[in-house]
Amino acid sequence: MYLALIAASLLSQPALAPEGPVLAIKNSETGIPVDKRLWGIFFEEINCAGDGGIYAELVRNGSFEDSNNPDSWKFSDGISKKEIVPTGISGFNSKCLQVQFDSESAYIENGGYWGMAVRKGENYRLTFRSLNSHPDALLKFQLMSTKGGVIGQTVVRPKTSTDWAETSVSIKGTGNDPKAVLRVSGKPGQTYTLDNISLFPKTWKNRPNGLRPDLFQMLDGLKTAFVRFPGGCWVEGDTMATSMRWKQTIGKVADRRTLPNLWGYKSTNGLGFHEYLQMCEDLGAEPLFVINCGMSHREVVPMDKMGEYVQDAMDAIEYANGPTDTKWGAMRAQSGHPNPFGLRLMEIGNENGGPRYHERYALFAKAIKDKYPEIQLVACVWGGYPNSKYVDLVDEHYYNNPSFFFQNANRYDTYDRKGPKVYVGEYAVTQGCGNGNLIGALSEAAFMTGMERNSDVVVMSSYAPLFANVNHKGWNPDLIYFDSSRVIGTPSYYVQKLFSANRYDRNYPVKLSQAEFDKPTFAPGGIAMGTWKTQSEFKDIKVVSDSKVLFESEDGSKLKKEKGTWTVKDGALVQSSDAEGARAYIEGENWTKYTLTCKAKKNSGDEGFLISIGYRNPQNWIWWNIGGWGNTKTALEGNQGVGPIVSDRGFEDSVETGKWYDIKVEFAPDSIKCYLNGKLTNESKPSAVPTLFASAGIDEKTGEMIVRIVNNSTKAQNVKIELSNPQAYEGKAIVLTSALSTDENSLDEPNKVSPYSRKVRIDPKNPTAACPALSLTVLRLKPVAGQLGGTR
Ligand code: AHR
Repeated sequence: MYLALIAASLLSQPALAPEGPVLAIKNSETGIPVDKRLWGIFFEEINCAGDGGIYAELVRNGSFEDSNNPDSWKFSDGISKKEIVPTGISGFNSKCLQVQFDSESAYIENGGYWGMAVRKGENYRLTFRSLNSHPDALLKFQLMSTKGGVIGQTVVRPKTSTDWAETSVSIKGTGNDPKAVLRVSGKPGQTYTLDNISLFPKTWKNRPNGLRPDLFQMLDGLKTAFVRFPGGCWVEGDTMATSMRWKQTIGKVADRRTLPNLWGYKSTNGLGFHEYLQMCEDLGAEPLFVINCGMSHREVVPMDKMGEYVQDAMDAIEYANGPTDTKWGAMRAQSGHPNPFGLRLMEIGNENGGPRYHERYALFAKAIKDKYPEIQLVACVWGGYPNSKYVDLVDEHYYNNPSFFFQNANRYDTYDRKGPKVYVGEYAVTQGCGNGNLIGALSEAAFMTGMERNSDVVVMSSYAPLFANVNHKGWNPDLIYFDSSRVIGTPSYYVQKLFSANRYDRNYPVKLSQAEFDKPTFAPGGIAMGTWKTQSEFKDIKVVSDSKVLFESEDGSKLKKEKGTWTVKDGALVQSSDAEGARAYIEGENWTKYTLTCKAKKNSGDEGFLISIGYRNPQNWIWWNIGGWGNTKTALEGNQGVGPIVSDRGFEDSVETGKWYDIKVEFAPDSIKCYLNGKLTNESKPSAVPTLFASAGIDEKTGEMIVRIVNNSTKAQNVKIELSNPQAYEGKAIVLTSALSTDENSLDEPNKVSPYSRKVRIDPKNPTAACPALSLTVLRLKPVAGQLGGTR
């Protein structure tokens, strides 16, 4: 009902009051071009995005490589042997299962990734390898529904070979169950040595070892320009031994390396380098391959051992693009793709930085550019980026709350135009957004209008992460959620889609004049005393609001402890560990306005004190960082998960060891003031955030003008469109909105926040766009012939 009302009012509102918002669009000017690669996707093996996700394999741990136990397999009574034994094969396929069934009713069972979706009439390809099977051995494979019935089965005689032999058969689904399991039973008394048990449903384009069609289609809907893969942190790995190395992910799936994934599961690499490239091709998207740069989360490869890693990068390019008479090009052809994949983009490392990264980047860049000058190289921005002539693009990452994204919609307006082009390789609202809600999505949309308007600087971007199996969410939120049979897009998915499926080629310069601004306020919250790799002590802690004492603890003993080693000694609360982010705190759910006073002394360590106000929980707080950044600077920073983010410029100063400091902070919804030894040193006020954000441009192929307007206000707004070349337009408005800013989609309510569209007409005499409350509106408008140069 609400949506219908909004739809009816779109672009049909009465003339605006003069003080209403105006969007001036210079549609007579040829603005800056928009890079065709601006809107892309970021695929990481996180949240079971690949295994248990788009990679269609239904059996989990069918290779028995996950551990020394048959993980993910269940055994009925009447099984006298169930052992993981060596395969006798050198390489990564080192384990298999030996099983002996004692009775006709004994079985082993695999439930896949939280159930296997079985559909009536669909064919499932079952493959397994066996060794030394008895001449009259028989194996029965059954698809069992959760209700216990058989919904597909086949009986197979495994090959009797004394070497590993593969058998492949088809099973037809005879019933429906999204959570079916695969049951395997054999002749009583016989020992079966089994490996690589695999079950594939119908895949996208029927590709062998392919992708789940419903998930693929969600990606296809994004009309994405490029796919960055395979991560993310997955590229780095926790250790070098567990980092993703592409050569271990090609060729026969059975021979690929199963690897512990730092996001909490085992990855089969069934979706490997070749399949990623194939996926890009099927999506009509460019591949952007991210390669480990010799740095994991915990280790760095010494420079004299880097040769192998640089060679990996060179060989990856040869695999993707090389002629079929090269070593790696031939392997690509053997895997079914003689034509080159056309890899042109490569990122060296993920979220790596500092001098050790810069040294390693130089190695990769020189080798790659010498041989493949056409490859564009992306460098990580992680506290700076390498100072190298071989940096084509720099990859910036932003995870924050909605306020950050609204406040940063103009970020690129003032960026250095002489620096390298920017790839915003990961960004998403990750705080104050539920499982991915409307306001989070709208703030991303506002930020995206900023990227688009500044497309001379920002040439590529990708929201992150892409997928999450709802049964294994290692990150929140994500763009697309799914289980074994269902898939939904979050509101952020629809924002991405509204941008990428409605691209334009050139920007028209736009200017928004608006009267309305949201005035965010700091949220209420408690206080905390903290340290970062520093040993300090605190005393005389008092919180007063309008002469009412909210909290008082002379020796700090009344504070709760979070991280660190805290003891009370000589009338003060002493933190003696080397922890990062040690904190002693007290909640203050209703503490909106107060003054905190305390005394603090540093005893040893790297920095000074972290004094929190507006403390909400261990993740969401504001702190006054006194002697931060290695005891060089004092600044206010933080993020309460809601409301404005806090960051002031700070000032250069350091904390003296052994000296007591007088600390006072005045905290109010609209201001924070910090006094060190009685002197006001730091302050912050929430800045007003505009309620409207816009970009516009022309789709040169169709001649359409495309206008995007984000309205983050809870009130509908009529935006007057002022065209430099007044013109009648007709077309459609596609609108994403919902009743509440907190509205989300879920598997049970997949379309609560999803776009609708309607026809619109822009009358040159009164060109107005009515933007519903809390909405993203995309107008696709064609000039109406014969109505050029009308009046405004
Ligand atoms: O997108 C999730 C993670 O966020 C990525 O793995 C990493 O690059 C970033 O920190």
